Amino acid sequence: MIIIGVFMAKHKMATDIFRQVKDFIYEKCGISFTENKIYLLEDRLSKRLDELNMSSYEEYLYYLKYDPNRRNELKSLYNSITTNETSFYRDMVQLTAFRTGVLPMVLKSKNPRDKTLRVWSAGCSTGEEPYTLAMMFLDENLPMKGWRIEIIASDISDRVLQSARKGVYGDYAIRNTNPVALKRFFTKQNDGYHVNPEVKRMVRFMSINLFDTYETRNASKIDIIFCRNVIIYFDDDSKRKVMGHFYDALTKDGVLVLGFSETLINLTRAFKAKGINRCIVYEKV
Ligand SMILES: C[S@@+](CC[C@H](N)C(=O)[O-])C[C@H]1O[C@@H](n2cnc3c(N)ncnc32)[C@H](O)[C@@H]1O
Repeated sequence: MIIIGVFMAKHKMATDIFRQVKDFIYEKCGISFTENKIYLLEDRLSKRLDELNMSSYEEYLYYLKYDPNRRNELKSLYNSITTNETSFYRDMVQLTAFRTGVLPMVLKSKNPRDKTLRVWSAGCSTGEEPYTLAMMFLDENLPMKGWRIEIIASDISDRVLQSARKGVYGDYAIRNTNPVALKRFFTKQNDGYHVNPEVKRMVRFMSINLFDTYETRNASKIDIIFCRNVIIYFDDDSKRKVMGHFYDALTKDGVLVLGFSETLINLTRAFKAKGINRCIVYEKV
């Protein structure tokens, strides 16, 4: 006998309320829940209703819009609705392209007097991506002698940023990490793998909503942006808006790296696709 388990959220959302909630979310952060994702929103917000002792999404929407505590609630909303899947050394083919193609190209194009390289992990989740980049920079094979490296890592969710700053990880997060890197950059303790201080020192975490023009100005003069597996949750209009922010944040010869399943083809002329070692990256035009 096959038993299929279907999770049923405790609080059901009527279609008209779903539309209002999804429009509210879209307007605030660009994340787009299509009409068939009602169950997903129910699943993610039902618990929040219980925590707030509320019995309906109408009440919750009103709270989000008008309550004096609405700014804090917006943060809780982001914590509830975002998908934060990530791992160390994720999509190694892209990281190899970064090491062997993107980085040399960017270093070569920089003004020889400017020895600072700024990298932005935009939508960094619990920190595995920016820490991986820091580990790659600490790797002796990279031609970074004499360079000052700044890694900015940002996310819209305070919950993941808090965990990123701690830098303690379980087996799942390090599943793609090779034993040499594991030994060099982590210290195993009872509660998990602690990222070593030399790595942590290289990364500065900040809260940035990529959909917010004002907040994204906190990242500027960036040479390389990693924004992987983030814009899959956006529709074309919000992707364009975020790309506009990236355009402004990047230096003249800056490069943008998106996730494998993400593309800017037919979306904007502000970036030119370039193939590097089986990967597509985007140069500012
Ligand atoms: C699937 S994770 C990707 C993590 C990492 N970049 C990777 O590829 O492994 C997507 C992250 O994007 C963040 N995110 C989604 N919308 C955002 C927005 N408007 N501004 C900033 N971060 C956002 C989510 O909170 C989530 O942590």
